[in-house]
Amino acid sequence: MKPEIIQTTKLFAPTQERIEREFQCHKLHEAGDRVTFLKQHAPKVRALATFGPAGADAKLMDALPKLELISNFGVGVDAIDLDAAKQRGIIVTNTPDVLNDCVADTAMALTVNVMRRFPQAEGYLRAGHWAAKGAYPLTSSLGGKTMGVLGLGRIGEAIAKRAQAFGMKIRYHNRRKKDVAYPYEADPVALAKNADVLMIVTPGGTETEKLVGPKVLDALGPKGYLVNIARGSVVDEPVLLKYLQEKKIAGAGLDVFADEPRVPPEFFQLDNAVLLPHVGSGTVETRTAMGNLQVDNLLAHFAGKPVLTRVV
Ligand code: 8YV
Repeated sequence: MKPEIIQTTKLFAPTQERIEREFQCHKLHEAGDRVTFLKQHAPKVRALATFGPAGADAKLMDALPKLELISNFGVGVDAIDLDAAKQRGIIVTNTPDVLNDCVADTAMALTVNVMRRFPQAEGYLRAGHWAAKGAYPLTSSLGGKTMGVLGLGRIGEAIAKRAQAFGMKIRYHNRRKKDVAYPYEADPVALAKNADVLMIVTPGGTETEKLVGPKVLDALGPKGYLVNIARGSVVDEPVLLKYLQEKKIAGAGLDVFADEPRVPPEFFQLDNAVLLPHVGSGTVETRTAMGNLQVDNLLAHFAGKPVLTRVV
């Protein structure tokens, strides 16, 4: 008999195949009536497979009194109530490290594209303006500029390494100073003040909510660029929109938004923003590795072994 688990959303196809080979999966996202579904499966379900934004709240945990493990697809666990999990002795796992390179690649792509305006330059060519109006206007170079990394964790370090290869200098801010060669800034405002590009890599959640607001953006200033590959919640989004509209910062490269997949349409009108639909980790290789780690955590737990990547 395969162990029974609940999954909260549709998973990446290869992950879905693998998880169904190993477990009997009850699909909460396909349930007609959530309450009846949870009542029906609660007596046998010891694990939950969830995915970034779907998370798991205290109410869901209460509906599953035998729950021992929440295995998340994604490194960010901001949509999982970690305190509630801790109180109930539920283990939470995520999928760190395997996505570092792809997310860091995305961060650099946004940096290059927002500073060099390559998407706009391509639009200029496709619209026939090159022959009609002449060369595309000059842009800003990356080399010699400073990237301020807000949140120098494993992904932040992968970004910093890449930015250095582009000739950029690195400064950073974390809650605690790290044992690294990069200069440390005591707070996000000081970091923004001393950076040409402010790169947001912090986790989401209440502790970082709207950490980047008017004070940080004022410090970044009209020549500064913002790049966010972390969570939309870290930025005060209406304020960012206003600063972009009024050119109070030079531009923004955004892979994440406050209320995904809904993006305020005013962003679509901006000429100084490069926008991506949360594709940071979105490659076949990385998503496969993330899914495998999610399933490996479930398998380890059901084999009575320690999970591989425990958050709480
Ligand atoms: C995923 C992410 O696309 O890992 C994360 O926290 O934001 C992305 O890699 C997202 O979580 C989907 O699960």
